[in-house]
Amino acid sequence: MPDPVVARPKPCLVTLKGGRTYFWCSCGRSAKQPFCDGSHQGTGFEPRKVTLAADEEVLLCGCKRTGTPPFCDGAHTNLPGGSPLDDPASPANRAVREVTQREGPRARLNGACYVVRPQLAQKSVRGSLVYSYLVTGELGALYQTQVLLEARAHATPAFGFGDRDVILFVIEGEGRAVISGREFPVRATDGLYVRPGEVLQLLPQGAGPLRIFALACPLGELQWPEVMPQNFDADYPERVVSVDPEQRTAMGSRYFQILVDKRIGSKVITQFIGHIPPSKAAPHRHLYEEAIIVLSGEGCMWTEDLKVAVRAGDVIFLPRKQIHSLEATSAEGIDVVGVICPGDNPSINYYD
Ligand code: FES
Repeated sequence: MPDPVVARPKPCLVTLKGGRTYFWCSCGRSAKQPFCDGSHQGTGFEPRKVTLAADEEVLLCGCKRTGTPPFCDGAHTNLPGGSPLDDPASPANRAVREVTQREGPRARLNGACYVVRPQLAQKSVRGSLVYSYLVTGELGALYQTQVLLEARAHATPAFGFGDRDVILFVIEGEGRAVISGREFPVRATDGLYVRPGEVLQLLPQGAGPLRIFALACPLGELQWPEVMPQNFDADYPERVVSVDPEQRTAMGSRYFQILVDKRIGSKVITQFIGHIPPSKAAPHRHLYEEAIIVLSGEGCMWTEDLKVAVRAGDVIFLPRKQIHSLEATSAEGIDVVGVICPGDNPSINYYD
């Protein structure tokens, strides 16, 4: 059987009615994309039936190469035309205004998108733990709260986010993380996962502080239990994921590695580390909310008609469906850590 035709190297955003049956075109020949119009007759392809329990907005595959038919799995990003670039010096982009003023630590872009510079954020102290809220519901997030934690010299008090899933990324330093009585060594660039109801304590080692970004989903606040409960969820024993170049996934000229995700128990939030070479992707959207930590290099975050320079250490909050493009301007590109929720695949994007 020949390969299916690439109807379009990008998915189709559609709202499917709950209880109604649809037929997704698998051959790529239909003129009614992404649905079947009978053009598969004689090709050996059959349309894929899909019926959802409730109304849902979904991305149906347009390239017909997905491994999760009928839904897009990001395979289009590695097809010709599937990861289009944009010229930052085009006449339209030259008209985009650069944001140079901040509201406190935040530079605001279109929608509820913003870039926060953690050094400028308000700090609070509890024992040996210094913390700053970077992304919160009051600032437009629907799914996530993000806090920068800094443990200096001594063991921190026990803390948690109640019944939230918590994903952490070690940005600097090394030490140990105690999760509800179970201890794990951690160091810079590790991802860490804490199950709902569990409690965390950080024990820095070495000369420098242990600096960690923590993201809780759904929205929540830090809580301070008096004692460390011994309720480690042993059904999910693996909690630390380290960077491993062997685990990279290509996405056009970019690549990423999934760190914490459903494989170790996080069913709603997914964390990845990735690299963007010097380039500007064409403006696109996601169906998930995202927080992006810039680890190295310099770049520019673009939305509809605003842009702002970003640099290592900045955190970008990106609302669901916000049109955007993250440009790497450094010659060496930029490295980022992203956390998406709800979602499990950072390569699924869509654009008009
Ligand atoms: S459009 Fe086919 S995998 Fe995304």
